[in-house]
Amino acid sequence: MVSEKDFIQNNYTISVEGGNFEWSAPSNIALVKYWGKKDNQIPANPSISFTLNNCKTITKMAFTKKENNGHFSFDLLFEGQPKEDFKPKIQKFFERIFDYCPYLKDFHFTIDTQNTFPHSSGIASSASGMAALAMNIMSMEKLLNPTISEDYFNKKASFLARLGSGSACRSVKGSVVVWGNHTEIPESSDLFGVEFPSTIHENFRNYQDTILLVDKGEKQVSSTVGHDLMFGHPFAEQRFSQAHHNLSAIKNVLERGDVEQFIKIVESEALTLHAMMMTSMPYFILMKPNTLEIINKIWKFRSETQTPVCFTLDAGANVHVLYPENVKEQVLQFIKNELIGYCQNGQYICDEIGKGAVNRN
Ligand code: PMV
Repeated sequence: MVSEKDFIQNNYTISVEGGNFEWSAPSNIALVKYWGKKDNQIPANPSISFTLNNCKTITKMAFTKKENNGHFSFDLLFEGQPKEDFKPKIQKFFERIFDYCPYLKDFHFTIDTQNTFPHSSGIASSASGMAALAMNIMSMEKLLNPTISEDYFNKKASFLARLGSGSACRSVKGSVVVWGNHTEIPESSDLFGVEFPSTIHENFRNYQDTILLVDKGEKQVSSTVGHDLMFGHPFAEQRFSQAHHNLSAIKNVLERGDVEQFIKIVESEALTLHAMMMTSMPYFILMKPNTLEIINKIWKFRSETQTPVCFTLDAGANVHVLYPENVKEQVLQFIKNELIGYCQNGQYICDEIGKGAVNRN
């Protein structure tokens, strides 16, 4: 089994003066949710997600040799402009991964990042952002130690991304990724995401995710605060074991192509995530009235037309509408006719299952 020690290496043999890389990494949407963590971003339960295709972060990283004075040195640009408010997050990320990337203090970095989705869309960029940065760092590591394998490269990138933002570890690969130890997923790990090992039934290939932007404001509860709410939560243990059970069930569903069962698990997971927030102390309601309106409309449309469309939510008010590619036309028409009115400024983003991070050099 791969352990944390496997990601500590000292054989950086090649001397490098500088370089630059560019990677894109997508966002992901969890089907079985990660909510609650232990120290060092170890998840309290396993999770599984669809990697997305269109919502992504593109990050350029340039680096030049500097004297190692015991400090990190970097400039952070967002869409080409200096962005001081993002720097503490990167500083913290570098501190967290330093034991595994001891070369970070030997270089000055210029990190230039941009998202394909609107900045104030309420779509978290931490998963795609941390994954894109981790890929760049691994490209640099490969320059210093060309012997590393592709498998090690990807696993360590996911491991580093996890230390930046838990769910980011599921954004390195596609199209379906499991993070967290689970008895039925060989090689699954709390340390990094692994590709779903079985063949996915064709019903789930090219699955669509249309993201309805209900509330584009800042998150009411940061995910750090959110995960902490699971400490001492009265239903925590039940929830963690339910996630293991739901992952077994969804594994079977993805293999067999059972869309009906998929809908039940995915919607129940979304509502359970929100139920955990509503029953914690302090308690939160992250849905908005329009979130509920949309959910009810989806249920009505599904029962009237038998179209296999369902919803999921992350820790906010936006709704992810999930459906197979072969009903795309009907569902988009339904969204336009009946759901857009509940979105802020009528905004929504069309996405679908994707393949993971891409090297743009
Ligand atoms: O990766 P974080 O710490 O932002 O947490 C993400 C939590 C959820 O999006 C609510 C669920 C998940 O598994 O992605």
